[in-house]
Amino acid sequence: MCNKSDIVNRLLADCPESRQSEAAVFAPANIALCKYWGKRDSELNLPVTDSLSLSLGSLGSHCTMRIHDGPADLVQLNGTTLPPDHPFVSRLTRFLNLFRQPPGRRFHIETVNTIPTAAGFASSASGFAAIVKALDAMHGWKLPERSLSILARLGSGSASRSLWQGFVHWHAGSGTDGMDSFAEPLPEQWTDLRIGLLILNSSRKTTGSTEAMRRTVETSALYDAWPRQVATDLAAIRQAIRDRDFQALGAAAEANALAMHATMMAARPAVLYWQPESVEAIQRVWSARADGLALYFTMDAGPNLKLLYREADRTTIEQQFDGLVTANPWQEREP
Ligand code: DP6
Repeated sequence: MCNKSDIVNRLLADCPESRQSEAAVFAPANIALCKYWGKRDSELNLPVTDSLSLSLGSLGSHCTMRIHDGPADLVQLNGTTLPPDHPFVSRLTRFLNLFRQPPGRRFHIETVNTIPTAAGFASSASGFAAIVKALDAMHGWKLPERSLSILARLGSGSASRSLWQGFVHWHAGSGTDGMDSFAEPLPEQWTDLRIGLLILNSSRKTTGSTEAMRRTVETSALYDAWPRQVATDLAAIRQAIRDRDFQALGAAAEANALAMHATMMAARPAVLYWQPESVEAIQRVWSARADGLALYFTMDAGPNLKLLYREADRTTIEQQFDGLVTANPWQEREP
């Protein structure tokens, strides 16, 4: 059985070190069009299936990392120093334990999220991807992107996809050591495709995705069907991307998200992230589509919707959905 340290030791074995005093990096958030839901190895975050995501352009995590002289890591999130018992600090400290060379080294991490933290907006994905990029830059390791993706995966599965802009495919792999489970960007650029964040409810989620996935895999009678569903949806999404067929892309992504939520609703006890506002927004998307608008949605481990549309329809859709924040997956800088 492999653990996280084995993987880190293997990937860093022949790395040069030319330490900088500070590194500042950015990683975009990503939203899966074909979801990752369920692990075959929870220590190494090895997924049951492949998944495919779209990045959020300038929405993500800025991270500045330095060596810290104090007795513990110093973690600042959006300008506030977090207490050591904060869940984010505990999770980050455990992750950083994998990289303390010499042992006992402490880090000062300053993260600024340009995407709302929690509420299912995938800030842990961009957060861990940014930490890995910052570790690489600060130590001068110059790791290949595949290795960075594997390391980010150890922090949070979806972080493996947050190292690039655009479409990213995470290969589940089949090995037990996790070395063949990494993400890579697709070559296709679809420059008029947009993804919008519809913030309906910003309260923190009750059940985290790690626990919700575990419960679904272990208790949901519908989970058996999930890998087959993913294979079908992933093939449809890959084809739609090649064909630039927006209807096919939106339909497959929307159906995949609904199928994922169905698996978790059938868990015992059930996991239900939807709030009344979520259902109301789903109905509004469907009715706008019935009126001829090319608009689809996807949803993750939270009550909010992400909308898929094209630039030509952006103004109309922004007018219909109050507070919608549009991201351009191919544009890293603020317009
Ligand atoms: C619904 O990557 O947050 O957003 O690997 O346990 O950290 P861990 O889970 P996480 O799960 C993301 C689930 C999802 C779907 C997706 O992003 O593919």
